[in-house]
This record gives sequence, structure tokens and C-alpha cells, in this order.
Amino acid sequence: MTILVTGAAGFIGSNFVLDWFSQSKEDLVSLDLLTYAGNLENLSSLNDNPYHHFVQGNISDRDLVSSLLKKYQVRAIVNFAAESHVDRSIHESKDFIDTNIVGTYNLLESARSYWNDLDQNLKQDFRFLHISSDEVYGSLDLTDPPSNESDPYKPNSPYSASKAASDHLVRAWFQTYKLPVLTVNSANNYGPYQFPEKLIPLCILNALKGKPLPIYGDGQQIRDWLYVKDHSAAIREILKQGQIGDTYNVGGWHEKTNLEVVETLCAILDELKPKSNGKRYSDQIIFVKDRPGHDRRYAIDASKLESDLGWRPQETFETGLRKTVIWYLENLNWVDHAASAEYQHWVKKYYA
Ligand code: NAD
Ligand code: DAU
Repeated sequence: MTILVTGAAGFIGSNFVLDWFSQSKEDLVSLDLLTYAGNLENLSSLNDNPYHHFVQGNISDRDLVSSLLKKYQVRAIVNFAAESHVDRSIHESKDFIDTNIVGTYNLLESARSYWNDLDQNLKQDFRFLHISSDEVYGSLDLTDPPSNESDPYKPNSPYSASKAASDHLVRAWFQTYKLPVLTVNSANNYGPYQFPEKLIPLCILNALKGKPLPIYGDGQQIRDWLYVKDHSAAIREILKQGQIGDTYNVGGWHEKTNLEVVETLCAILDELKPKSNGKRYSDQIIFVKDRPGHDRRYAIDASKLESDLGWRPQETFETGLRKTVIWYLENLNWVDHAASAEYQHWVKKYYA
């Protein structure tokens, strides 16, 4: 048996696949379209691993997905494939609709037709695990409790609306067709292999290059930060023991303002790579125009995952961020390769 991981060459997908092989010898098929955000280099340590099979392709390609499901006798699909960057969704939303909504729909249909033809035992054991976001719950006030699994959906960006739509499709395929699904709504991830358009890697790399560290608006927006390896561990647990049809929130219990995040990473850089002129990296912080519709606060109540499945994050924000900064300092070549010409063009066009 095999698991099929979509979006496996992206940030969270590749961390999940590497983590999977650090503890399993089960076959795993990585399916990824290799958009600007996908990077095969993330999986290069698996080049000689006979249990790993990489396929470049689109989750919307039903012929391809159906043939992979049959050929590898897939027992579970873990769907990371998505357009993931909120700023991009504001400027050009079409790819978000195509992949996050239509792509998820096509993947569900490929899964359903394969699952329908399975023998009873295999049918029972099959899982479709969909990865989603805390952004679907919308913005919280400072005094609101963290979002739990039964909170209503109130997405505010084209990205979060597309993820919310995909979650609804997944739910409907369970309610209507009994496809054995699981949904995981996670907080902001950070760690190795994150594409340098996102806040933490962007600021680490700009800091090292002496460039400004752009904080949107007043920098008081709050995010809940989850180290990516803790997320992988949660997904493994949910895949193993999760209740079919259920949703699980995954968060780090680490709410921070954006300004706190950037100041903390500057302090780590001051210690690990002090500037030759004696100045502090935080001197590079600048406040720039806010993101339209910028959600003020996300926070995740991950207590269901702890009480039902015994999962808690292992990293504190400080330990996880330190590991992340060290990883980027040691992997500056990866950044050069990841930041493609398409990405440079996009940055010039929209962040000028
Ligand atoms: P990412 O942008 O780094 O990676 C996405 C991957 O999907 C890329 O490798 C890309 O090539 C691939 N892809 C895109 N369209 C595809 C398609 N049509 N078919 C096949 N592959 C395709 O994203 P990420 O940060 O790793 O996020 C992974 C998942 O987790 C997404 O569903 C995202 O919504 C969700 N999520 C992310 C975070 C976060 O903080 N990064 C938090 C919560 C949820
Ligand atoms: O909350 C989960 C979500 O986290 C995921 O669903 C998304 O896929 C993922 O991209 C992430 O979304 P965010 O918009 O929160 O991530 P980003 O790194 O783009 O921004 C984090 C915060 O920092 C956000 O409040 C915007 C702010 N920001 C971001 C950038 C890139 C800045 O202030 N300056 C910046 O340059």
C-alpha cells in the first residue's frame, strides 16, 4: 500500500514527506505541479529512496490521478496542493479558484471513483486527508477565544475563501458519498523550505541582504505560529487515529504580533550573525502600506487534538524560530534556487 501526497514539493508538503520517510518504509507518491512554489530540491535527499516516487502533474488531471491511485494501490491521499500566498490571491485570484476549489473537487472525484471500486476492507481503511487553514474562520477580536472546530466560516481574502470552499466540498463528499475524509485546519507554519515570499523567510533574507523588513500597517496583527515539523506529527496522528468526517485544528499556542515576530528574528540574527557595523537588524524594520482586508487576529484552539489524539506541539516559538534562522543561514544556496525568475518578476510588479 501507498500514500499519495499532493503539493509534496512545496513547503509543508516536503517537510511532511521527509518526516514520513524518517519513520516509515511505506511507498509514497509525491504529486506536484511544480508551480513557482514547488521545488524538487526539497526532496533531493530521497533521490535514491526506492519507496519514493515523484510525479509532476496537476491534482485536476483525473486520468493521471486515477492511474496513480490504481497503479500504487493508494490507501490514503494527503492533499497539500494549493495556491497558498494571500498577497498573490489579492492581485491574481484565478489560480486560487482553479487549484484550491476546482482542483480539490477533481481530486475528490478521482478519489471517490477509485474508493467506490475497492474491496470492503480496503474501502474501510481508505482516507482522504485535506489540509486547510485557520484563515477560514476569519478575523478575531483581541478578547475572542481562539477558533475551534465548530466556529462558523468567515473568510475574508480570495485565498481564504478558496480554502473555505474546498473544505465545504470535502465535507459534502463525506456527508453525501461517505468518502472517508479528514480535514486539518492549521495556523501559520514556519520552518525549513518555506518560500521566501512569506513573512519569516522574507525578513531573514532581507535582513541578511541589508534590505528593509516591510511590516504591513501597524504590525499589530496577530498570528498563531506552528513549527512545521509539529504540523507533520499532527497530520500523521490524525491520519492514523482521526475520526472519519471530523475536522482537527492544529496550532502552536503561540500568538504573536507581526512586529514581535520580526523583532525576535532580528534578535536571533544579532546573536548568530552580528553585523560588521555594530548596528542591529531591527534598524531595518519599516512600516509599509497595509494588505487590503488584512485580518487582525488568528488564533487556534487545538485542544480537541490534544484531548482526542494526544498531540501537543513540541517546539516553543523561540526554539522553532531559532532552528529556522539557523536553517536559512546554512541553506542560502537553496534560497537562490527557489527564488525563480517568475518570482523576481512578481515581486517587482506588485511589491515595487
Ligand atoms: P506552498 O505554496 O509552499 O506549496 C504548495 C505546493 O502545491 C507547491 O509545491 C505547488 O507546486 C503545488 N501545487 C500548486 N498547484 C498544484 C496543482 N494544481 N496540482 C498539484 N500541485 C500543485 O504551500 P504550503 O505553505 O506548503 O501550504 C500547503 C498547504 O497547507 C496548502 O493547502 C495551504 O493552504 C495549507 N496551509 C498552509 C499554511 C502555511 O502557513 N504555510 C498554514 C495553514 C494551511
Ligand atoms: O494562517 C494560516 C495561513 O498562513 C496559511 O493558510 C497561508 O497559506 C500562509 O501563507 C499564511 O498566511 P499569512 O498571510 O498569515 O502569511 P504571510 O507570511 O504572508 O504573512 C504573515 C503576516 O505578516 C500577515 O499578517 C501579513 C504580514 N506581512 C507579510 C509579509 C509577506 C507583513 O507584515 N510583511 C510582509 O512582507
